[in-house]
Parts: sequence; structure tokens; C-alpha cells
Amino acid sequence: MHHLHRGLAAVLWLSISGLVWAIELDLDDPQSIKDAAAVVAKGMMTFYNGDKPGGIPGLLPPPYYWWESGAMWGQLINYWYYTGDDTYNAEVMKALLFQVGPNEDYMPPNQTKAEGNDDQAFWAFTVMDACELKFENPPADQPQWLALAQAVFNQQVARWDSENCGGGLRWQIYPFNNGYNYKNTISNAGFFQLAARLARYTNNQTYADKAEEMFEWMLNSPILIDRNTSYWVNDGTSNDNDCADPDRTQWTYNYGTLIAGSAYLYNWTNGSELWKQRLDKFIAGLSPIFFAPERGGGNVMCEWSCELNQKCNYDQPSFKAYLTRWLVTTMQLAPYTWDTIKPKLEASAMGAAQQCTGQPGGDRCGRRWYQAEWDGFTGVGEQMSALAVITANLVPKITLEPPVTVDTGGNSTGNPAAGTAPDQVNPYHDGEITTADRAGAGIITALLLIMTVGGSWFMVS
Ligand SMILES: *[C@@H]1O[C@H](CO)[C@@H](O)[C@H](O)[C@H]1NC(C)=O
Ligand SMILES: *[C@@H]1O[C@H](CO)[C@@H](O)[C@H](O)[C@H]1NC(C)=O
Ligand SMILES: *[C@@H]1O[C@H](CO)[C@@H](O)[C@H](O)[C@H]1NC(C)=O
Ligand SMILES: *[C@@H]1O[C@H](CO)[C@@H](O)[C@H](O)[C@H]1NC(C)=O
Ligand SMILES: *[C@@H]1O[C@H](CO)[C@@H](O)[C@H](O)[C@H]1NC(C)=O
Ligand SMILES: *[C@@H]1O[C@H](CO)[C@@H](O)[C@H](O)[C@H]1NC(C)=O
Repeated sequence: MHHLHRGLAAVLWLSISGLVWAIELDLDDPQSIKDAAAVVAKGMMTFYNGDKPGGIPGLLPPPYYWWESGAMWGQLINYWYYTGDDTYNAEVMKALLFQVGPNEDYMPPNQTKAEGNDDQAFWAFTVMDACELKFENPPADQPQWLALAQAVFNQQVARWDSENCGGGLRWQIYPFNNGYNYKNTISNAGFFQLAARLARYTNNQTYADKAEEMFEWMLNSPILIDRNTSYWVNDGTSNDNDCADPDRTQWTYNYGTLIAGSAYLYNWTNGSELWKQRLDKFIAGLSPIFFAPERGGGNVMCEWSCELNQKCNYDQPSFKAYLTRWLVTTMQLAPYTWDTIKPKLEASAMGAAQQCTGQPGGDRCGRRWYQAEWDGFTGVGEQMSALAVITANLVPKITLEPPVTVDTGGNSTGNPAAGTAPDQVNPYHDGEITTADRAGAGIITALLLIMTVGGSWFMVS
């Protein structure tokens, strides 16, 4: 497939045995990046029907879970911030406010039965994006972004499981859900990142102390393996055998969550050596697994655990979006990482654009960025990941306005006590639980079911 140049046009028709779309991406030309991003964003929103008659604002239809909807709104906040295109802003506002739940804590009754700590965290990340990127504040009589994030933080503090394995968060909030005994990395790392961001945004040491406590717990558990010059990030561990073993499956978003949390704390501590070392070890852990030289020359991101065997579920194709976004944040908060990270975002964006080329729909992208031809997959996750990595290349080194804080222009209204009223920490009290409910809607449910601790692990390198 060849690319024709047509000025600034990012999309062109190629006539090779019928009509085929291609995305033309020139990373030296911001307009080309914006045009490509607009096409991919539009493609992503074709999966959404919450804005249609009968649709529910904020929710992607099945098979997508609630958490991924939350993540998608965060992607659109980033999209607006980097491109200036506010096409979706009104929908983002509506979605984020519609799903807050009666206690303003991202525990909406339709979801609580199957809600995990990680699911709730992804909505909290999105409202933190709103705070830090100065997305429009909700009307004064509505819940405010910062207070919503604080509600999630406060509830998760109260869920700290000191009875087992010396602490940490369980994956699931309720005992009747599969995975209640699993301590997955994304729930714990999610809390860590949220605490780190709240510390920096509000300039409040209490949050930083909680982030540090969580980090120490992960480091003392089989979740984080210190390999001296790098960290190995496992997928989780289980109360069932006192957290003796990890599930060693490797996912981009687990690293990404920890990388960003470390970068926030690095920045907030004015460049402390401790957080620099931790950040560097996470970044060093990425390359052997997710940026293998044999797949795209060493700079193209690959979801190693499910792309090679093409067994990604509906959640997993979106994970690269989060690692991408959080690498961008890291470049901003720890500018010394720019030279390491930037080439990875460039090569990955070119790879992603290739995957948006050759499929018949016009605005859909595949999954394997290291493969020249569209790989036949489409979905919200594929779109979100491509959108994240293409827009990541709009981040200019010098002029970028960083994620703000209350001291640098952030003005979201907070409530340090949000979410802590009696009965609010675990607000499910709706009667009978059926077997169907137990199917669970958390992230990587299937992984847990096949996980026999210690039995499914593998090593890279
Ligand atoms: C909960 O589900 C009901 C029934 O489908 C729907 O009408 C309502 O809008 C949903 N609420 C949220 C917050 O998704
Ligand atoms: C890390 O360094 C220590 C002390 O130098 C050494 O004993 C240990 O084997 C090293 N661990 C790894 C995973 O390389
Ligand atoms: C970072 O530096 C600022 C300005 O010098 C200072 O006010 C602040 O206390 C420092 N923060 C930390 C966590 O040391
Ligand atoms: C913290 O982030 C700001 C904004 O990007 C940046 O200018 C500053 O250099 C960072 N601090 C450190 C210690 O890198
Ligand atoms: C918050 O800042 C925005 C600009 O980012 C401004 O439009 C808005 O009026 C401010 N709100 C308050 C309550 O100060
Ligand atoms: C800092 O955060 C903690 C935890 O939410 C809260 O209890 C405390 O009031 C906050 N401090 C300030 C000065 O806002």
C-alpha cells in the first residue's frame, strides 16, 4: 500500500480493488496529527450509543464494561486538550455526571453489584484528568471533579485490607464477587496513582503518605519484583495463599499506572532521588517486554500477553492507551525522560496509523502496531489506543502546559471528606445476589478464573 500526499489531508481514498481507507500521518505536521486523530476519535464514538434515543449517557453498550466507558471519557478529555477539538466535550460532561451515583462517588447502583476497586479508579483517573487539564467545571449545583476523585480515594482508604497479606486492596469490593480474594496490581497501583495525583494537585501531604504506604506494600508483596535496575510488575497476588505467589502475566497498563504515579511524586517532591530511581526502574522494565526489537525495531508498543496469540478480550486492547497517556504525563512531569519516551511514542503512532489502513469501515483501527497490514480486529480499545498514541505526538517539548495544580491554575472544588458518610464506603445494599450477578464485570475476570496461583507464570528474557 502506498500513500499519496495531498497537502494536509489525513485521510484519503485509495482505489485498490474497491475503496479502502488509509490514514496518512506526518508527525512533523501538527495538522496531520489532528486530522488523523479526528478520524480515529470519530471511529471510537461509533461504538457509543448513550447519546442516541434510549441510550444511557456514559455507558458503552455490551460487551464493553462500565470501567472502559470511564476510561474512554478520559481519552476524550485528553483528545480535546491536545487537539483543541471540543466536538465531544458536551457528551463527556454529560457522561461523567450521569454516572456519579447517588453518593457522588462513582458507585452507581446499576454497577455496584459487580464493581471492582480498579473499575472505580478508572473513573477517578478521568475526573483527575478533568482537574489537571482544566476541563470545564460542572455547574455549581453538580458534583465537582476534585470532590469525586476524593470520594473514590476516601472509600478505597477505608477498604485497605489489613487482615490479609499485611494490607493492600482487594480487587473486588464485595465478598460475593469472584476475585474478592485476589489483590490485583491495577487496583493497588490505581490507588497509588490516584493518591499521588491528589497529593500534587491539592498539595496535601496526607495523600502522598498514602501513596508511599501503598507503594511499600506492593514492593513487599509479589506484585513488584525489584530486579535492581528495573522493576518487574506482576498482575496480582491472592489472599488465598497469603500472597506467597504472583500471577506473573505482564500488562502495559500495570506498568503505566505505576510509572505515572511515580512521575507525579517525582515532580511533587521537586525531583527527589527516591522517586527518580523508582520511575527509572519502571521505565527500564518496559523495553524487554512491550518494545521488543523483533516487533517494530524496539520502539513499537505491543500488548505482549495477548497480541502475539491474538487472544485479547474486550478490555485488553485498550491497555496501550493508558500506558501511552501516562508516558506522556511522565515526559511532562519528569522532563529528563523525554529522550527515552519520545521515540517510542513516534514509532508506535506510525504503527497505529498503519493499523487504521486497509480496513473497509473507514475509521477503524486494528491492534498489532508492529504489523504493516490491518490485522482484522476492531473495537473501542483498538480505537482508544490508536487515538492516545497519535495525539501523544502533539506534545511539544517546550511549550506544553503541564497538568496543573491548585497553585498553577487548577480550580476544581474539592471536599476532603467526600464519600465518607456512614454507609457510603460499600454502598451496595440492594438485596439478593443471583448467580448471574457473580459473573462479575471487573477487569480481566477471565484471567482470574484460569489463574492458579503459581501455575500460570512465565518469564521473559
Ligand atoms: C440504570 O439502568 C436503568 C435501566 O436500564 C437506566 O434507565 C438508568 O439510566 C441507568 N442509570 C445509570 C446511571 O446508568
Ligand atoms: C540485585 O542485587 C543484589 C545485591 O547486589 C543481588 O544479590 C541480587 O541477586 C540482584 N538481583 C537481581 C534480580 O539481579
Ligand atoms: C518543592 O519546592 C517548593 C518551592 O521551593 C516548596 O514550597 C515545597 O515545599 C517543595 N515540596 C516538597 C515536597 O519538598
Ligand atoms: C515538574 O513538572 C513541571 C511541569 O512540566 C516541570 O517544568 C518541572 O521541571 C518538573 N520538575 C522536575 C523536578 O522535573
Ligand atoms: C476556573 O478556571 C476556569 C478557567 O480555566 C474559569 O473559566 C472558571 O471561571 C474558573 N472557575 C472558578 C470557580 O474560579
Ligand atoms: C489533606 O487531606 C486529608 C485526607 O483527605 C484531609 O483529612 C485533610 O483535611 C487535608 N488537609 C487539608 C489542609 O486540606
